[in-house]
Amino acid sequence: MPLHERTLALVGGGYISEVILTVLLNTRTMAPDQFVVSDPRLERLRYLSDNFRVHTVPDNVSAVTRGDFVFINVLPHVVEEVISELASELPDADMWADRLIVTVAAGITMRQYSRLSPELPVVRALPNPQSQTGSGVIALAFNSYVSRAQKEEILALFAPMGERVEMEEQNVDVMTALSTPVNVYLFIQSMIDAGILAGLDRPTSTRIVLHTIAGSLEVWKRNMDGLDGLIDHAAPAGGVSEACLSTLASFQFSQAVSEAIRRGTERSASFASS
Ligand SMILES: NC(=O)c1ccc[n+]([C@@H]2O[C@H](COP(=O)([O-])OP(=O)(O)OC[C@H]3O[C@@H](n4cnc5c(N)ncnc54)[C@H](OP(=O)(O)O)[C@@H]3O)[C@@H](O)[C@H]2O)c1
Repeated sequence: MPLHERTLALVGGGYISEVILTVLLNTRTMAPDQFVVSDPRLERLRYLSDNFRVHTVPDNVSAVTRGDFVFINVLPHVVEEVISELASELPDADMWADRLIVTVAAGITMRQYSRLSPELPVVRALPNPQSQTGSGVIALAFNSYVSRAQKEEILALFAPMGERVEMEEQNVDVMTALSTPVNVYLFIQSMIDAGILAGLDRPTSTRIVLHTIAGSLEVWKRNMDGLDGLIDHAAPAGGVSEACLSTLASFQFSQAVSEAIRRGTERSASFASS
């Protein structure tokens, strides 16, 4: 079925649902009447219907019965409650026959949805916050019941949000930690603060850091596999860059980043069992 004939049920009308609505409507990938959003908070539903002109309902069951792609957009600790509600209110396997679940909740595995129907197609999707500008990176894992045609539709649905990275589900937790912007923001903030500490005013330090990072990204994009060479070339022995590098190494910069990603990955995986 072409995407413009689909109805998307969004269970949970919070931040990530707003990102999905904003991107898919602004890019005209979908139209407002192709969405139905459920959320217990009536003022939130009013906000979404006023701003996006989408259908809204206070109960999940009526949203799910109206949608053929069902997005589970609630916080991880609420997912089990939603699955139990849907399993008890919609026990008929036939009702799930033409539906597909898209689960965006961090750490929640596709297997947890088999309670709804044993052969239910499930997609685990993880857009990062930058997806709202179209420059995100989105992890996508598909279970074996997702057909080739459904997969194409899901890839098209997420295309306006950024780079789609298809992967085995076991890697989604790593991706969650690796794609959070906060590690990058902290590095940017630390660079700006260091410039200020060394005597620059904030606007000047910010401008220098912005262009240093933007320029480094441009050069790296032209030579994606050559980071070692780029570092060596920019840091001759005894020079300024080499002094910066050896100081970062003495504070175990790389180990700190590696440990941050490892712990973030663990945290994401822990949501499945909490
Ligand atoms: N934020 C991100 O950038 C991002 C990125 C990727 C994935 N995700 C995932 O997206 C999911 C949602 O995150 P979010 O940031 O959108 O959270 P959020 O802003 O808190 O939105 C969740 C919404 O679900 C509502 N809700 C609570 N219980 C419900 C229920 N039983 N049925 C239906 N709706 C219910 C909440 O209402 P109340 O506020 O009244 O509880 C809230 O409006 C999370 O699992 C997160 O891991 C988020």
